Amino acid sequence: MKTERSSDSFSPSEGSERLLLQRAVPLLLAWFKGHKRDLPWRHGRTFYTTLVAELMLQQTRVEAVKEKYVAFLEKFPTERELALASEDEVLKAWEGLGYYTRARNLKRAAETLFERGTPRTWEGVKALAGVGDYTAGAISSIALGLKEPAVDGNVLRILTRLFADGSAADTVKKKFSDLLREVYPDETADFCEGLMELGATVCVPNGAPLCGECPWNALCRAHGSGEEERYPVRAEKRERRVEHLDVFVLKNGGAYALKKRESGLLKGLWEFPNVPSAPRTAEFWEGHGLSLLALRTAKHVFTHVEWRMTGYFAEAATRGGEFLWTTAAEIEEKYAIPSAFRAFSDWLKGD
Ligand code: ADE
Repeated sequence: MKTERSSDSFSPSEGSERLLLQRAVPLLLAWFKGHKRDLPWRHGRTFYTTLVAELMLQQTRVEAVKEKYVAFLEKFPTERELALASEDEVLKAWEGLGYYTRARNLKRAAETLFERGTPRTWEGVKALAGVGDYTAGAISSIALGLKEPAVDGNVLRILTRLFADGSAADTVKKKFSDLLREVYPDETADFCEGLMELGATVCVPNGAPLCGECPWNALCRAHGSGEEERYPVRAEKRERRVEHLDVFVLKNGGAYALKKRESGLLKGLWEFPNVPSAPRTAEFWEGHGLSLLALRTAKHVFTHVEWRMTGYFAEAATRGGEFLWTTAAEIEEKYAIPSAFRAFSDWLKGD
């Protein structure tokens, strides 16, 4: 995979941007010391806890990660427990965070740590399952003290504003990585998290950034020209694919039907039986001994796909062998069900 590491070219504007950034570094560090949020992964850090936090924080908000992180570490306090756990246990502990490939990757990464010990270089971190350039930079800076930048959407935003850089945000990652590497201070963890923190709490994406509270207020070129909101300039968005699904919550006595997803999105998780929508699906299922109890539509939006679902709650005459039949209490305790299906899980209540 292509990485964003070498610094092979240099333009005059980058020269002035480097000077600006050099002045911005100590201001950010001082601000971060006084303003950082008290987040659970900032206490008692190890390489393993940093790995867990950074994988959870990929694509997921800090608020959602906070509780899950603490419970996850209670269950799997070191790489040993995670490496030796079953995939179902790990997926269950991940329930609610979404993007479950991350949970499987985290388990594989824990197996690598358990077998070979902690890596010491950016390349060693990057070789772990689920770790891309950004996460490798974050873990290297935070847990290993290495001067390796981590440029995500937050960092892109604060730097495009600091420099008033009108390039489309996805084209300046390499340039910003190179610039950051050149000014990286010895306090690598605080610098890395300070950049993230500024983007998350002050130089926020939508609505007005809180420029009055920003340590870069006097340096920021976007603020200087009153154009904070113009940055970052966005690349054109790709359309989301829409898929229509019929979802069946089947009940027989006190048991409900679950099925394990064999492939594709959400593979390995448990779900209510479902099929791509077809005009005659409901009649088809009624023809198979189902009596309909309730019907409801719901929508779930993933990054690249949107599911428009029709949910059928039905009493089944027999327990079809292709499904796992289990109780509502067991579903609650043992089986990880993707959030997409939550819209129908209240049908399990009342047993
Ligand atoms: N987002 C990604 N990594 C983070 C961290 N370590 N602290 C806060 N937000 C983050």
